[in-house]
Amino acid sequence: MKTIFSGIQPSGTITLGNYIGAFKQFVDMQNEYNCFFCIVDQHAITVPQDPVTLRKNIRSLAALYLAVGLNPEKATLFIQSEVPAHAQAGWLMQCVSYIGELERMTQFKDKSAGKEAVSASLLTYPPLMAADILLYNTDLVPVGEDQKQHMELTRDLAERFNKKYNDILTIPEISIPKVGARIMSLQEPTKKMSKSDPNKKSFITPLDEPTQIIKKIKSAVTDSEGLVKFDKENKPGVSNLLSIYSILGRKSIAEIEEMYVGKGYGDFKGDLAEVVVNFVKPIQDKYYNLMESSELDNILDRGAEKANQVASKTLKKMENAMGLGRNRR
Ligand code: TYM
Repeated sequence: MKTIFSGIQPSGTITLGNYIGAFKQFVDMQNEYNCFFCIVDQHAITVPQDPVTLRKNIRSLAALYLAVGLNPEKATLFIQSEVPAHAQAGWLMQCVSYIGELERMTQFKDKSAGKEAVSASLLTYPPLMAADILLYNTDLVPVGEDQKQHMELTRDLAERFNKKYNDILTIPEISIPKVGARIMSLQEPTKKMSKSDPNKKSFITPLDEPTQIIKKIKSAVTDSEGLVKFDKENKPGVSNLLSIYSILGRKSIAEIEEMYVGKGYGDFKGDLAEVVVNFVKPIQDKYYNLMESSELDNILDRGAEKANQVASKTLKKMENAMGLGRNRR
């Protein structure tokens, strides 16, 4: 059975972009693959975090993973910092990375632009991400399009490691969804929908109240043409709403276009709001139940144990290949 690994940062509530780009793929793939899903808290601290809020967000993200349909009997769900091999292998991957290639990462450029104090970890974030993936002999990594560059680097680093030392790392493939690989901001549809956007109207989270969802969709930026048609170049706002409708409403884009021939954006947005509200309702019910139960901690304990077993084996292989320590293992 092939293995998949993916991670989400616990840096605030997740958005519909995270759901469509990542979570949905996880749930769809969990029956066919050996799955590891991680709450990457060590990645989150590459930018300032309030410790109390971070703890809350970690638990909340764990509950969301399960609330969207992840089955803990099938998939291993765990917190990155509870598996020490990640930070250890992250260091090893840093040692095979070049500063130049890390400086070329667009996420690093975006997050460091205009900042006076940029943490060194923001630069060395991709080797840690590579370690996350490589520790599990991962075949496939389901992510949104924004992670493509990090995935290409992960493959380069793994190939470099294998060439320099023993051929021990599996080279992972990337899996990007056909529709919704990049869900855009509702307010600026040429920009990615992001949980860190200061304009709260630009994103929807699965924990938003129905009234908030309706308001956000009604105020989503479209165009003056009045045609419900998918055209990313010329109609980025409408195309983005069509992608969301298609995924959450389980209809093809062509079918939806057909439904709104001769109708305006008002009808389209009203129905989309209903689709989104119906979609989040069962997720919210499950989420609030889980947040109150001890089941969540048991699942995370079991997940950390299983992840530790697999990750520590690969780490030992890597350290041996690099000649670290004494060969007593
Ligand atoms: P993060 O936490 O920013 O996002 C989690 C996942 O959601 C996807 N995503 C989107 N997909 C579509 N449209 C959007 N607007 C959108 N916004 C986010 C992301 O592509 C991602 O799949 N570096 C990673 C976390 C990470 C990781 C890993 C991922 C650390 N180690 C190992 C995979 C494997 C990140 O910052 O994701």
